[in-house]
Amino acid sequence: MNFHVLTLFPEMIESGFHTSITGRALENGTIALDTINIRDYSANKHMRVDDYPYGGGAGMVMQAEPVHRAYKELCEKYIGRSFRVIYLTPQGSVFTQSMAEELAREEDLVFLCGHYEGIDERALELIVTDYISIGDYVLTGGELPALVMMDAIARLVPQVLNNKESAQFDSFHDNLLEYPQYTRPEEYMGMRVPEILLSGHHAKIEEWRRQQSLRRTRERRPDLLQNNPYLTEKDKRYLQDT
Ligand code: ADE
Repeated sequence: MNFHVLTLFPEMIESGFHTSITGRALENGTIALDTINIRDYSANKHMRVDDYPYGGGAGMVMQAEPVHRAYKELCEKYIGRSFRVIYLTPQGSVFTQSMAEELAREEDLVFLCGHYEGIDERALELIVTDYISIGDYVLTGGELPALVMMDAIARLVPQVLNNKESAQFDSFHDNLLEYPQYTRPEEYMGMRVPEILLSGHHAKIEEWRRQQSLRRTRERRPDLLQNNPYLTEKDKRYLQDT
């Protein structure tokens, strides 16, 4: 997976991504990161990239030309590759795990990070394929949302997680929340680890964990149980009886 990020703050993307599991994946070449500073494509002698909005109003707007030029150079560098270009914006579709799964199958992804009051609509019309939001709140720029998306996507790329970190059983597997986890010691502040987890009885432990997932999902995210295609008859009976 090759991530290409068009941004005014490449150091923010680089330092965020060169850390922990994604940092390890960059080092061993499982994923690649290419940050492109939009300011380098300014045609202005003062390297300006923003200007006042036509029609008036608060704030500044990023100009179309530097964004479009940065993207065109990327296309020239990677002739023959086709890119999905994701623009991070609170006006986009809200990012979900299933979107991460779909995007993880791409060879290349381009993230376009805006600042100020956004980017001139013409640059967006020329290059953007997907408008994505990470939630219903407004941030100061697209860099943190790009990092959030890249992290969620990278961990689904084969070989990024090792066996111990496997994505197979985490929250949202089967569209359910994860069961509670415990580690040593067996007792902490008078609270004991549930006996079943110490029993060594694998089938019973699996059943208990499934039940905990169902309860937790019902309590915290009941919306995930509506039309959930992964619920078995046994799951439905458990939910009805408890
Ligand atoms: N830019 C500013 N706020 C955002 C959000 N919530 N999601 C994606 N991009 C953004």
